[in-house]
Amino acid sequence: MSLTLIQDLRWGDTGKGKISEIEAHPDRCDVSVRAVGGGNAGHEIVKGTRKISLHLLPAGCLHDGVDVVLGRGMVTNPSSLLKEIDEVRSTFDTDPQERLVIAPENHVLFEAHKQADAALERRKGKDAVGTTMSGIGPAYADKALRVGMRMEELRGTQASLKDRYGKLKEHWAQTYGLQLDSETEDRDVTALLAMKDRLERRVQPQMTDYWQRKFHENARIVIEGAQGSLLSLDNGGYPYVTSSFTTTNGHLQGAGLPYNQLTDVIGTLKLYDTRVGNGPMRTQFNAEEDAALCNKGDEIGRTTGRRRRTGWLDLQDTARRAWEEGVTKLAVLKGDILDSYDPIRLAVAGDQENPLYKDFPGWKGSIRGLTDYGDLPDEARAIYEFIAMQTSVPIRYIGTGPDSSELITR
Ligand code: IMP
Repeated sequence: MSLTLIQDLRWGDTGKGKISEIEAHPDRCDVSVRAVGGGNAGHEIVKGTRKISLHLLPAGCLHDGVDVVLGRGMVTNPSSLLKEIDEVRSTFDTDPQERLVIAPENHVLFEAHKQADAALERRKGKDAVGTTMSGIGPAYADKALRVGMRMEELRGTQASLKDRYGKLKEHWAQTYGLQLDSETEDRDVTALLAMKDRLERRVQPQMTDYWQRKFHENARIVIEGAQGSLLSLDNGGYPYVTSSFTTTNGHLQGAGLPYNQLTDVIGTLKLYDTRVGNGPMRTQFNAEEDAALCNKGDEIGRTTGRRRRTGWLDLQDTARRAWEEGVTKLAVLKGDILDSYDPIRLAVAGDQENPLYKDFPGWKGSIRGLTDYGDLPDEARAIYEFIAMQTSVPIRYIGTGPDSSELITR
């Protein structure tokens, strides 16, 4: 039995999709898990001419024989989930629906939550969080207020679900001042009933029994982390965070798995930092440098299409995150994007506003597609070794290009 978590150490978007794809391959994985968050996450999987954006399903959904768990810490939009299942079916010739294992406690996220998200952001004006507008905050607020709908309720009758939605509508009107139009209501109820029809059987009666069975079978379990450590609700970056706990502990809680069974935490980062949404980023580039790196690294949010802000890697903070998340291996991605950069800077000290940098000479050549650590230029190796030393964590993966084959594995 093994339990691996892929934990983003920054603000999401470090390329953990690629690592998840590798770790969730049936050669290494029997159960692929999403534990927290909802449609705010997103990564693109490219296989030859076939391409798909996944927002809710973890990467194991692409492979026959791999169970796909949607854990209790998630908030799930019915129409998005059904659409994603159908897209996987038509693009990758496999049926994830029959392999789904849905935690009964997983919450339902409605179109109405998206409208409430937008309304709250508008109300905050210049203090807006810059959310993905996926309804995440209001869905978790309903969960915390103990009025939200959970997947286990799909076992009710169609009439009881409609009735439940009517009660939620009253709650949204009172709590968020949301006056739902009949079109949104129709869309929500139709999607909810379609989800009942297709997925009711996939909702587990008891997740702990499922997990114990899997442990007994010696299963290899891979949790695909959502967002990143810095976006966790409890993080110091509050209020510019998401509404779930996107940390190692949060993911275990969201999956319903015990901490002492954790085998590996693979911490992901890029050789530079990016952030989408509002909130401070102390290593952020000036406008010109930002535009250049953003274009070079294709730093556009997969969920929102927004441009990500870019800056030098904050290694001082990354080392803190690696410690707190209990990281056992690192995956450092997208180094090839800095091929022409000289110097390459890493923030290694300083206070909240003013980072102090250590400069490394760039390699000024191409590392694109390399798969052997020994083939990296000395200058590149010096940087990776410094990162491993500062974080006290060995590097397992070094990304050298967007394709899953463009990777050094150590
Ligand atoms: P929310 O999760 O949509 O409420 O957004 C809260 C903050 O988290 C915003 O700054 C979003 O841009 C950011 N965020 C949420 N999900 C992701 C993600 O998957 N990648 C990067 N940023 C994200």
